[in-house]
Amino acid sequence: MIFGRVKSLDAILATAEKKSLHRTLGAFQLTMLGIGAIIGTGIFVLTSEAAQKAGPGMLWSFVIAGLVCVVAALCYSELASMVPVSGSAYTYTYAVMGELLAWTVGWALILEYAVAASAVSVGWSGYFIGLMATAGVNIPMEITVGPYGGGIVNLPAMFIALLITGLLMIGTTESARVNAVLVVIKVAALSLFVFLTIPMIKGQNFEPFMPNGWFGQVAGLGAVGAAASIFFAYVGFDAVSTAAEETKNPQRNVPIGLIASLGVCTIFYLLVAAGAIGTLGAQPVTGLNGEILSPGSTAMAQRCASLLAVGQEPLVCSREALAHVLREIGHPAIGNTIGLAAFLALPSVILIMLFGQTRIFFVMARDGLLPEKLASIHPKWKTPHIVTMITGAAVAVFAAFLPVGKLADISNSGTLFAFFMVAIAVLMLRVKDPHRVRPFRTPFVWVIAPLAIIGTFGLYLNLPTDAKLVLPVWGGIGLIFYFLYGYRKSHVGRGIVDAQDDEIVAS
Ligand code: ALA
Repeated sequence: MIFGRVKSLDAILATAEKKSLHRTLGAFQLTMLGIGAIIGTGIFVLTSEAAQKAGPGMLWSFVIAGLVCVVAALCYSELASMVPVSGSAYTYTYAVMGELLAWTVGWALILEYAVAASAVSVGWSGYFIGLMATAGVNIPMEITVGPYGGGIVNLPAMFIALLITGLLMIGTTESARVNAVLVVIKVAALSLFVFLTIPMIKGQNFEPFMPNGWFGQVAGLGAVGAAASIFFAYVGFDAVSTAAEETKNPQRNVPIGLIASLGVCTIFYLLVAAGAIGTLGAQPVTGLNGEILSPGSTAMAQRCASLLAVGQEPLVCSREALAHVLREIGHPAIGNTIGLAAFLALPSVILIMLFGQTRIFFVMARDGLLPEKLASIHPKWKTPHIVTMITGAAVAVFAAFLPVGKLADISNSGTLFAFFMVAIAVLMLRVKDPHRVRPFRTPFVWVIAPLAIIGTFGLYLNLPTDAKLVLPVWGGIGLIFYFLYGYRKSHVGRGIVDAQDDEIVAS
């Protein structure tokens, strides 16, 4: 009976039509939007963690994660063009699979967006600390890393998370122009990196290519384990699909935006990873008895500290991977410049993630599944300030105490679940409602969608055990919440047809 609580597609579309946003975005702007949301901590920071898991074989990891994202993006495109409204995977699931599953997707998207914002905050903090060190200011470790790395709290990560929360509360959304400037900064930084490193590549740095094999001895290691983690580097392309209702000719432009931004990023990622591996080497460090160490673990932090004490800092130990490579290969000034680029550009990824999160909460509250008070709009700032503040505080706490790789893995578990459900929803809707207009049709859907289902599930299975466990535990908490609150209050359950518009006015 709960599964019968489906929100009709026509009702969703009627709500969307009332908004009548101007269709202004073209393929180029969408691609820029995608690149702006995608390039971030994944490539700038997690490259070292991927190297620890897979060694030079992380090149395969980037390919595998990129392919899973492409097939998922093609599924996203069909639903985004049919249901071009806020709420992304949550709304699609509501229309196709009913309220209960939609709730679980919305609940999982909290992991995707909020925890990703924490991860990028921690990534930013690594670059901030590096920049301060080059300026001669060494901040004590106690206040720059959490307990996992021998410190107490990561204050810079907390600071940036709270700063961005404050900006969102008073109504800052990133304008297309600021996004374009930041995209240029990020692309220029990665291009410079590629330009300087590729000519210096040495073949022997790629040997052994797969020190931990495809799967490693411990869950989460090996090239496939690294793919499950580096998947984080591609997350954010769904931002393109959420802009579908502001897009001219979405049939053509949404898929171009999705595929082009993913394509550009994949090429950059492969070149950057090859440059880092080929110049500095990317072999994992092992414990004193030759055991494989997991990135983010205390044992790994201790091993890196002891190597640093004797003047060695391999790629896998760096918290600012790309800047570190350039410094090590004789370009310290350019390394610092790349550090500056990351310092400037990463906060925009935090902003996109936090904004996405508040949007999802907002739509869920509007549907009656969360307390409506949460979504109340500030009279002057015109933003959902309460939900933004609560989300930001949680993001800051996670950023303060957890390592970047762990946060990225947790975020991935939620994202993979959402993508998995979207792929199923596309197929179900093809069967249930075959004649509905589909401005964009996923090509070869009976091949592409099953590949997306298998790919997302396969990557999920290869996450480290703790990250894998977070999803069912978090889902369980969500279900309790649903049956205590949302089940009774749901607008669909109470037969209320949405009267309100879901537009959050942002200045
Ligand atoms: N893809 C985004 C990043 O790597 C989330 O920071």
